[in-house]
Formats: sequence, C-alpha cells, structure tokens
Amino acid sequence: MTLNTAASGQTANIDWANLGFSYIRTDLRFLAHWKDGEWDAGQLTADNTLHIAEGSTALHYGQQCFEGLKAYRAKDGSINLFRPDRNAARMQASCDRLLMPHVPTEMFVEACRQVVAANERFLPPYGTGGSLYLRPFLIGVGDNIGVRTAPEFIFSVFCVPVGPYFKGGLTPHNFITSTYDRAAPNGTGAAKVGGNYAASLLPGAAAKNTSVDGRHFADVIYLDPSTHSKIEEVGAANFFAITKDGSTFVTPKSPSILPSITKYSLLDLARDRLGLKVEEGEIRIDELDRYGEAGACGTAAVITPIGGIQHGDDFHVFHSETEVGPVTRRLYEELTGIQSGDREAPEGWIVKV
Ligand SMILES: Cc1ncc(COP(=O)(O)O)c(C=O)c1O
Repeated sequence: MTLNTAASGQTANIDWANLGFSYIRTDLRFLAHWKDGEWDAGQLTADNTLHIAEGSTALHYGQQCFEGLKAYRAKDGSINLFRPDRNAARMQASCDRLLMPHVPTEMFVEACRQVVAANERFLPPYGTGGSLYLRPFLIGVGDNIGVRTAPEFIFSVFCVPVGPYFKGGLTPHNFITSTYDRAAPNGTGAAKVGGNYAASLLPGAAAKNTSVDGRHFADVIYLDPSTHSKIEEVGAANFFAITKDGSTFVTPKSPSILPSITKYSLLDLARDRLGLKVEEGEIRIDELDRYGEAGACGTAAVITPIGGIQHGDDFHVFHSETEVGPVTRRLYEELTGIQSGDREAPEGWIVKV
C-alpha cells in the first residue's frame, strides 16, 4: 500500500488492527551525509529514493549496516522509544566490523525522535498491538572501484507502521533447522549487516516451502556454523528456552549470533521480575527435552512462542503446538507492558519522543 504523502496532519487511513509487516510509505525520513571525516547536520526529506554513485561500496561489497527499533503509543498519549541507545551502540559495533564511521549515539537517537515526530499520524493507536518500526541504516557511497572502505557515507532513518511479524501474536509457530549457515564462525554474524540477510533468503524460503507430515514452518533455526549441533538463531530473531522445571531462562552464547536487544531485555526481566535463574550457554539440538518452553524474540518478532522444532526426522514439541507456555506469557506481558508504558520500565529503557 502506498499512501499519499501530502496529507500530513491528519491520521493516516490505515486498518490498525490488521497491520502486517509490509512497506508503507510514510511522510518524512532523516538523511545525513559523511564526508572528509565528519557528518553534516542531516535533515528530514519527503523523497523516499536515494541517488548514489554507481561505484558505491554498499552496492558491490556489502558495506552497509542497519538497525530496527520501534516507537509505541502509550495510554496517556505520549510516545515511547524502546532502548534506542542500545541500537545506536549495536550500529557502532557493526560499523567497527565493516570499517565504517560511527553515527554518534546522540545523533542516532535524535534522528529517530525526529522521524517519529514527523510521522506521528502513522503511529498506531494504543491498544491496537501495532507500532511504528524505525529502520536506521548506513551505506558506503561515492566513486570507487577497489575493495576498500567508501569515501562517503549516508545515514538515514525511515519508518513504517507495523503489526506482528509472525501472524497471530502469541500463537506458537513451528520452525525447522537448516543445513545452511547465515554467518561464518568468525564472520559477521554478530553485526547487523545486509550480507547476513542475503545469505538467509534461500534457507528462509526453503523453510517456508517445506512441509513435513503436513506441518508448515514459519522460518529457519540456524545451528552453530562450526559443528551444527547447537541452536544459534531463529530466522531474524534470537532463541530462548525455559528449563522443564520452569526455573531457568536459557539462551545461546556464540560470537556468530546477533546480540538481540529484546533478548537481553528478557534476560534481565526473567531474572529481576520473574525471579528465574538466567544462563547464556549451549542449547544442543539433541537435548531439547531439557526445555519446557521456547521462543523466538526480537524487535519485529516480539516474543513468538515456538511450538516445535523439526530437525531431520525428529519433531520436538516444547509446551504445545497451539498454546503459549506460562513463563513465555509472563515474559511477553512484562516486555510489552514496559514498551507501551503500562508497566514500570527499568531505568533508561524508555526514551520519550
Ligand atoms: C538475525 C537477528 N537476530 C536477532 C534479532 C533480534 O534483535 P533485536 O531484539 O535487537 O531486534 C534480529 C532483529 O533485529 C535479527 O535480525
């Protein structure tokens, strides 16, 4: 759906309750340029296209990175950004890995604020389950041909109103392991760079087109790229599990996993609000019967309960293929309550627009 951008001021004509995760053109986006060692002030623009040099490193050598975060309408009408400083820090880590200049945290957060404020009419109302997804990105541009870092960079932030990434909110989905890897053991898995996602398109499509015993799969479970024996990620989300006795929140630790801001937030909430033990360690694909619940978590996925995992001929069900487990539900309520301002946030987690 493409909306008329001339209608700023009035609420966008959107069916908020049935939003999916698709591109909708919003009014304004932030755009800044880096050249000769510094960023310009940047500005908001209505143009949703980029005009860049044919030799841009982003086009040939994948020198680019991006982020994803959300703005939420609170009950009192104010607007919450969830931990934008963590996205800024992760983008800086991605920049270090691909030899790109940092976007300073203050500039990153301010750009997000400006974009939300300028597109407020696209922010889903409180209680609809929707949010305004922000997509900051940084690309290497300018005249170039060799494999080297770009002479210039563009930083931009645009936004799209979204609903759930996996349909049905807290409905469990099934997933299937892949023999493909999204990243190499010492590659770029921990950075949010486009190459990882290009590598994920084929296994993702294969998973969605596979059916085993009449079961369909929402996405791929990636195993560790060295041994293919431990769970790493769930499509574009992190993985967590709850031990069968309900006592411990466990999540994989590996240098090829994207450090999910949602996952680390859940880990804190599991420990500090649910009183669970928390563990970052190994989750072996042949030891899934240690866990009574499992989930995928991320900005887009929020928390998607994992019904079961197909691995070769084995299908392992956690809590249930149709019902969310009790710990996963409590984590979901705690997280989404904080994001929408209904529950008290740990210090610094919510930044008002
Ligand atoms: C590969 C991958 N893993 C995990 C996540 C979840 O990270 P976050 O919770 O910061 O959105 C994302 C989404 O950003 C992702 O693309």
